[in-house]
Amino acid sequence: MNHIGIAGTGYVGLVTGVCLAEVGHHVTCLDISEEKIALLRSGKSTIFEPGLDEMLQKNIREERLHFTTDRTEAYHGKDMIFIAVGTPEGENGQADLSYVRQAAADIADTVTNDIIVVTKSTVPVGTNEMVEDIIRSQSTIDVHAVSNPEFLREGNAIYDAFHGDRIVIGGNHEPAVQKVAALYEPFDIPVVQTDTKSAELIKYASNAFLATKISFINEIANICEITGANVEAVAKGMGLDKRIGTQFLKAGIGFGGSCFPKDTKALTSMSAEAGYEFRMLNAVLEVNELQHNKLMEKANEYSAIHRGTKTAVLGLAFKPNTDDTRDSPAIHMIEELQRKGADIIAYDPIATDKMKAVFPDLTYTDSLEEALSGAETAFIITDWQQIKEQTPDFFTKLMKRPLIFDGRNCFDPGEMLSGGIHYHSIGRSGNSFRMSMST
Ligand code: UDX
Repeated sequence: MNHIGIAGTGYVGLVTGVCLAEVGHHVTCLDISEEKIALLRSGKSTIFEPGLDEMLQKNIREERLHFTTDRTEAYHGKDMIFIAVGTPEGENGQADLSYVRQAAADIADTVTNDIIVVTKSTVPVGTNEMVEDIIRSQSTIDVHAVSNPEFLREGNAIYDAFHGDRIVIGGNHEPAVQKVAALYEPFDIPVVQTDTKSAELIKYASNAFLATKISFINEIANICEITGANVEAVAKGMGLDKRIGTQFLKAGIGFGGSCFPKDTKALTSMSAEAGYEFRMLNAVLEVNELQHNKLMEKANEYSAIHRGTKTAVLGLAFKPNTDDTRDSPAIHMIEELQRKGADIIAYDPIATDKMKAVFPDLTYTDSLEEALSGAETAFIITDWQQIKEQTPDFFTKLMKRPLIFDGRNCFDPGEMLSGGIHYHSIGRSGNSFRMSMST
């Protein structure tokens, strides 16, 4: 059992804290927001994440998990301190490291024993060295920084913490690396041990590669539309090649969220700073931006949107099972619709509150029926189960004019067409997905 302090109670910090407490460590999480800490102390999670509240409450009850705004309480006398603060997009797409620097300075200021600092935040190559330098220059303690990037997906964070594909631990001081590796023994996940810089880069390389897969399949979808092929059939046929793999080949209106756009830009910017032009990633980002326009381009072909057209935007979160709207393609879609003067009603089962911060004056509903009632056009932005499980009848009964632009290929085009819906999706040019396979 270790005594662990964690700087930052965002997605990464909170999930890490709760899961390390769950396997028996004593964890104290620190945040500057009194409000957030009060909520967490009362056993209420500040993020929407299946299974998190129960685990949070259990570990608070069993006194392994504590929350504080007092950095002495969080850092003093600990075996390890995790840095899990945000690294938002800064100037020229660079990762803004000011919160990481502040955490390192606070550690130097507070800690009196030798310490292992574990960096969970997504940080550019060289940041762990910087953390060591800051702490050494501002204190007399000995410090070893270990890079331990986080790969959890929002909406699956608890599952990923216990069943991830790998744990990456990078460090140049073997005893410190072994101590961090020992923390993860109960998780039964393969550990990849590397030098510090490689571990830092693995995180960016992984996210940028997944983003690349998505932009690639989106370009294939565009070719499908021109040639009459079906992108789902192409993705299936490609993905069965184990070297390619079936995941992250779902065409749509582009990726969003707090990681892919930010991390792809940060890797591009980090490369440029090192004197290297990462050409491919510039294209990945450009394709993603163009893809955000796809539904509007299709709507324009049909002159679907005029001033006052009653328009339903279905889904605001950047993906299902989260209330996170950061960099969601819905933001771009709503801006375009507003430019055209559409009369918009926006639906999401859980993310409307988050979107209100971006578009305070928009009309929102958490009822799919209300969003579609009397609508002349609907745009599907997030593939929520609540949307996917509907039949064509559901739309024709509620909508004034059943015209649907689906950015997540939630329905079979043939079924929608025979159900009386003018249905346009991504990369399928009206074709149903027909493929048979012998096993
Ligand atoms: C991602 C990484 O998956 C995770 O390992 C990392 O730690 C953080 O970033 P997350 O942002 O939670 O996780 O979402 P993810 O499920 O990866 O989806 C990202 C975006 O890509 C979403 O907008 C999603 O709709 C889109 N996407 C994903 C596609 O358009 N097609 C796909 O095939 C997969």
